[in-house]
Order: sequence, then structure tokens, then C-alpha cells
Amino acid sequence: MQELSELIESARLAFAQAEQPAALEDAKARFLGKTGALTALMKELGKLPHEERRARGQEINRAKAEIEALLNERRTAMAEAELAAKLASESIDVTLPGRFRSEGGIHPVMRTWMRIEEIFRSIGFDVADGPEIESDWFSFTALNNPPNHPARSMQDTFYVDRVDEEGRQMPLRPHTSPMQVRYARTHTPPIKTIAPGRTFRVDSDATHSPMFHQVEGLWMDTNVSFSDLKGVYSDFLRRFFETEDLVVRFRPSYFPFTEPSVEVDMMFTSGPRKGKWLEISGAGEVHPNVVRNYGLDPEKYIGFAFGSGLERLTMLRYGIDDLRLFFEGDLRFLRQFN
Ligand code: PHE
Repeated sequence: MQELSELIESARLAFAQAEQPAALEDAKARFLGKTGALTALMKELGKLPHEERRARGQEINRAKAEIEALLNERRTAMAEAELAAKLASESIDVTLPGRFRSEGGIHPVMRTWMRIEEIFRSIGFDVADGPEIESDWFSFTALNNPPNHPARSMQDTFYVDRVDEEGRQMPLRPHTSPMQVRYARTHTPPIKTIAPGRTFRVDSDATHSPMFHQVEGLWMDTNVSFSDLKGVYSDFLRRFFETEDLVVRFRPSYFPFTEPSVEVDMMFTSGPRKGKWLEISGAGEVHPNVVRNYGLDPEKYIGFAFGSGLERLTMLRYGIDDLRLFFEGDLRFLRQFN
């Protein structure tokens, strides 16, 4: 009796210590297998006197049944633990926020770009595009810049480690004006185009960024006068700002590539920003030397050009006061435009 209950206890312990199914099967063999402890006891039954055999046999069988029950209990517990672990590792936390791909939006400067294209296309302007790494000739010489003009200097213009056909170091275009020349040289009058794009200058503060956007405009024909410039540009501003309540002023200025040259200013006459003149663009009648560089006869062809900053137009349209917001990529800012 004593011996059998000790056997049961050591089986319980062995089964409990088995951590893997294989270890449990090993333990089972030690007690219930062909060479196991219980089988050994059974074999000894034969040596017992006949009268004791039956009672002993029953005791052993009860112990065997108990050990089998312990084994099954342990097997079930092991299977349940395994299942629980599997479920835990594969579980889905439905309270976690879902994974999603956010939708892109249109940058406010890009919206301005698109609006400008739409407005100018509607009055018959073509839209042109050109290189951001320009030759010295298109950037400056063709635009009637004297060789020592400050715009060429390293202080204003970024240069790339590359030379053009003339062997001169190439700038990142500091304005879109080279596109006047590129477009005019490859088209025949009447020429009516805008060229929006990226421009670069060594400049960085609340109102200047080393990379910014301009749109160049050019209309050349036999009779395109300064009053055409006034009409087209004023009309553009009214459509761009979607209001009739603004006035436009053409203030005398200087550019090497236009004569006469002006700064275009505008002022809202109603709304929160009324009553303040705002500088918006450079413009003028194309200088005869530049017309010549277009490959055209300045005695025959005349027209106007303008160059306006897209960031500036965007800031005025939406009342944004810091240019740097455009380039920081802060979604709280950008989402307001989508
Ligand atoms: N290129 C000039 C600038 O960047 C603007 C301009 C363009 C002026 C065309 C006159 C004519 O400031």
C-alpha cells in the first residue's frame, strides 16, 4: 500500500515536471510502459501466494488507473496551455487604431500654380517648362545683363559644379526669365506663354526662401503695348483673388531685360487686408536687345513680360504671414488647404 501511494505521488510529480509533451510521454513510459514500474509490480504477482494475488492485483490496478487519470489530466492541461499561448500570440487587439494609408493633398503653392495655368490658358496662353540648372547665357547674357551685373555674383545666385557650352559655371536659375528666351527662340510670333517653375536664390528669412517659385509671362506680337500688360495683369489679379475690390499700380522700376520696367503693386479695397499696397510682380516691355536674343527683329516685334512669385501670391490669397510654413511640411498647416 505504502509503496503504491508513493509510486502515485512520484508519478504526479514527474508528470507535473514534464514541460513538453515528449517529456510527459517519457514519464508515462517510466510508470506505465512495458518496462515501467507498474508493469514490474504486475509481473511480481505470480510469485505471490494464491490468496494474496487477487487483492494485490486489484490494488495495483487501482494505482494504475489513478496514474492514468493523472497522466490524462496533465495532457489536457498541457494542450490547453498550448492553445492559450497560441491564441495569445495570434490575438488581434481590436481596440488598436487601424493601419491606413493617408491621402495626399495639394500644396497651397501648387494650388496657386494650377490656378494661374487655368486663368492664363483661358485667355490663350501656352504653358512652358524648362531647366532649373541653366546656362549663364540664358540666365543673364541673353537677358541683357551687363557682365558685371550683381545678379551673377555668388551672393545672389547658387552655382552648380558644372559648366555650360561656353565653359561658364552653371547657375540654378535665379528667376524664370530664361524661359522667355528659350520659348521665343523655338516659337514664331504671336508668342503668348507662361512658364511657372522653381527658382533659386541665396536668401533665407520670413519672406525669402532659397528655393521658391515664379511664373514668367510673355506676350510678343507686332503691337503688344504697355496697356496690354496693364489689362492682362490687372485682369489676372482680379480672377486670381476672385474679387473686383482691388486696385493695381505700375510703379517705375528697373530690370535690364525690360524697358520701361515696373513693379506691379496691388491693394485690396475691401476685406481684412484692405488699404495696404503689396508688391506682387516685376514686369515691363521687353528690351530690344532681348528681342534680338529671341531671334526676332525689335523693329517688328514688341511685347511684355512679367515675373511673379507664387509664394507671394499664395500668402496674399490665404493671409499667410510666414513663408517658411510652405516648406516645413507641417500637416496641421497643409491640411487647411485640402
Ligand atoms: N525676373 C524678374 C525677377 O525675378 C522679374 C521680371 C520678369 C521682371 C519679367 C520683368 C519682366 O525679379
